[in-house]
Amino acid sequence: MKHAVVILAAGKGKRMRSKTPKVLHPLLGRPMLAYPVAAAKESGAERVVVVVGHGAEAVKAALADAGVLFVHQDPPLGTAHALAQAAPVLAGFGGAVVVTSGDTPRLRASTIRALVKALEEAGGRGMAMLTLELKDPTGYGRVVRGEDGRVVRIVEEKDASPKERAIREVNSGVYAFDPEVWNLLPRVKNENAQGEYYLPDLVALYLEAGLPVVAVPAGDPSELLGANDRVQLAVLEGAMLAELRERWMREGVRMHLPETIYLEPDVALAPDVVLEPGVVLKGKTEIGEGARIGAYSVIADSQIAPGAEVRPHSVLEGARLAPGAVAGPFARLRPGAVLEEGAFVGNFVEVKKSRLGRGVKAGHLAYLGDAEVGEGTNIGAGVITANYDGEKKHRTKIGRRAFIGSNAVLIAPVEIGDEGFVAGGSAINQDVPAGALAIARGKQRILEGWVWRRRGRYSEKAEVRE
Ligand code: UD1
Ligand code: CA
Repeated sequence: MKHAVVILAAGKGKRMRSKTPKVLHPLLGRPMLAYPVAAAKESGAERVVVVVGHGAEAVKAALADAGVLFVHQDPPLGTAHALAQAAPVLAGFGGAVVVTSGDTPRLRASTIRALVKALEEAGGRGMAMLTLELKDPTGYGRVVRGEDGRVVRIVEEKDASPKERAIREVNSGVYAFDPEVWNLLPRVKNENAQGEYYLPDLVALYLEAGLPVVAVPAGDPSELLGANDRVQLAVLEGAMLAELRERWMREGVRMHLPETIYLEPDVALAPDVVLEPGVVLKGKTEIGEGARIGAYSVIADSQIAPGAEVRPHSVLEGARLAPGAVAGPFARLRPGAVLEEGAFVGNFVEVKKSRLGRGVKAGHLAYLGDAEVGEGTNIGAGVITANYDGEKKHRTKIGRRAFIGSNAVLIAPVEIGDEGFVAGGSAINQDVPAGALAIARGKQRILEGWVWRRRGRYSEKAEVRE
């Protein structure tokens, strides 16, 4: 049986207490809504429809490339009213209509398929709904069953009697409907505590119409947890994170104090990668076999080759480390920083849009921006490539096996030839030929005894010195 998925995402999400629409709150770096959309696509849905309302423009912008259809619900008058907005784009569809919420991000594609299968097994007629048993059912709609154990209706918490509130079987908010849903939706009323059109009221309407209602118990209730406030959001993110960490550990990644490590779904790790406590890995970061990431380092969208090392407290973004390269502790690598094999960047060195050739060493306190550094070159402490003249950025080119003395400033555009030698403290604004020494600083003078003379005690000190 073919299926479409409708994701309800028009609600305000008041309990978030936020200017950001609820479904755009990030979970592991992606908007919450991106997860059900991905699950819907993976389930093989022929159409994915997102019902937007509150913050519609922002929600649409966040999903611009997702290949989904948007329909508007304004104002939001309840979940049944939300689904009714999808009628124009799905009325002629003919297959199963799966409905889920934008705030149920852990729903899996396999669960969507299982629900469609349950409807199919009921002859493709009526509806199937996922239910779950919770120790604490607070906030959810309760599943009311009759004497014979069959589902009779769903009652929202705000409308439930004390006896109904004690029911621990709840509605997950995920359903599969047959096309009859479009005829039944207009019959949903809003005579309830919240004055809303409730989608779960379809249960009673389907039963009245003599059509089957199948309750499918969820295999893993944590999959269906909703994110209605920041506490639930944090619980969900924690669960997703625990799952990700477990998966990578099973693939051979070593994590010290795993509960302190944060990583996002697009991160790729190889066996024998070592992650020390407090490591944060974001975006499309890839880490090769045997690489080690030191404690409290934050790495985004970077590639760390096998056997490379990032030492503690380093911050990398859009950087690339070749095998055997080392960065840190306290290194700052910005977009376009490339460390070739065996290159080393140490404490408080910032690198931006620069390539450091094999074996280059920049051990301390330097800034390398828009630079090309040839293999084997040594960059002294405090070296700065002055790449900005107030209007434009310029490049610095340094050859192989060159030596840039401490505290030199290379005023770009400038080129230092192979094996060129720049004396410490120089301000270089002219090219240095290969093999040459460049000194560009005030010449040192010695004024013997100047200090003591000033104090007027020259003779006295002279004695002491002898
Ligand atoms: C809903 C169910 C409840 C179920 C729970 C599971 C109803 C009435 N209740 O309650 O039985 O146990 O989910 O998580 O359906 N939305 C719209 N338009 C609206 C209202 C809501 O698009 O007019 C969207 C929201 O953005 C949200 C989803 O529908 O993504 C669910 O709405 P929410 O208010 O979170 O419903 P719950 O109170 O959680
Ligand atoms: Ca909800």
